[in-house]
Amino acid sequence: MEPRVLITRSIPENGIEMLRKHFEVEVWEDEHEIPREVLLRKVKNVDALVTMLSERIDAEVFDAAPRLRIVANYAVGYDNIDVEEATRRGIYVTNTPDVLTDATADFAWALLLATARRLVEADRFTRSGEWKKKGVAWHPRWFLGYDVYGKTIGIIGFGRIGQAVARRARGFGMKILYNSRSRKPEVERELNAEFKPLEELLKESDFVVLAVPLTKETYHLIGERELKLMKSTAILVNIARGKVIDTSALVKALKEGWIAGAGLDVYEEEPYYNKELFSLNNVVLTPHIGSATFGAREGMAELVAKNLIAFKNGEVPPTLVNR
Ligand code: DGY
Repeated sequence: MEPRVLITRSIPENGIEMLRKHFEVEVWEDEHEIPREVLLRKVKNVDALVTMLSERIDAEVFDAAPRLRIVANYAVGYDNIDVEEATRRGIYVTNTPDVLTDATADFAWALLLATARRLVEADRFTRSGEWKKKGVAWHPRWFLGYDVYGKTIGIIGFGRIGQAVARRARGFGMKILYNSRSRKPEVERELNAEFKPLEELLKESDFVVLAVPLTKETYHLIGERELKLMKSTAILVNIARGKVIDTSALVKALKEGWIAGAGLDVYEEEPYYNKELFSLNNVVLTPHIGSATFGAREGMAELVAKNLIAFKNGEVPPTLVNR
C-alpha cells in the first residue's frame, strides 16, 4: 500500500500528478481553509501533509497524526509550523524557496512603484468617471508622486528575495542599502550594496522593503520608533509577514505624515480588514499575492512533490528546513 498524503488546498495539478505516482493522495478541494477539526480528524492516518501558510501546524496536529513523518509547506515562509516540535518528534519540515523568488521580488517592485506613483488612486479616479466629470484634460499638479530612479532603497532581510529586490534596483540606478542578521560580502560586491545598521538604513532610505522571515526577533520590528526614524517622503513596502510591522503604529505614521506611503501585501491577521488603514489614500493594499504567478505556483507544487518523493525514497528532501 502506498503512503498517504493529505493536501490541504488544491495546488496546481502538476504537483498532484507527480504525487499520485507515489502516494495515495487526498486533496481538500474547498476554497475555504480546511476546518481545524476536520484537519485533526483527517491527519489520523496520513504519512505526509502538504500545508498552506494559513494553517497552524503544531503539537495538537502532531498528536492527532501518529503516522505523520513529513510536512511540506506550500510556501517559502514556515512561521505557521512549530518546527522545533516537529524536529523533536522526528518529523521532516520542508518549504518552497527559490521557485518563487523572482515572482515575489517582481511583486515587491509592483507595490513600490504603484505606491510611489499613486497608481491605484489614479486608476480609481479614471475608471470611476471622476476625471470625465471634472472636465479637465490634464493638470500639472495632479497625482504627483515620488521619484524612484536614482533614489536609495533599504532592504531589510537580505536572503534570496531581498537580494532579488536589490538586483532589480540596479536597473533603477538606485543606491542599495541592506540590513540582515549577517553581512554578505560577496553579494555586497556583486550588487554594490552597503550593509547598514537598522536605524541608519531607516534614516537614509527613500524606499524601505521588508523581506525578513517572521521570527521572535522580527515580530513588530517596525514600530513607532522605527517609523519616526524614516524620512517623511519615504515609502514602506511589506512583502514578508504582516506581524513584522506594528499596524497601529503604521496607521498613525501614515495619517500623521511621518512617512509618505506604504505598499502592503501581508497583514497581522489574514484575511484582514482595517477601516482606518483601508480608508487612506497613501496605501496600496493587496491580499498576500506576492508569489501568485502561474509559474511560481507550479514551481512550488513541483518542489513540494519532489520533497515528498525524496522522503518516500528514503532520501533527504531537497529543501528540508529542520536539518
Ligand atoms: C511564502 O511563500 O511564504 C509567501 O508568503 C506566499 O507565497
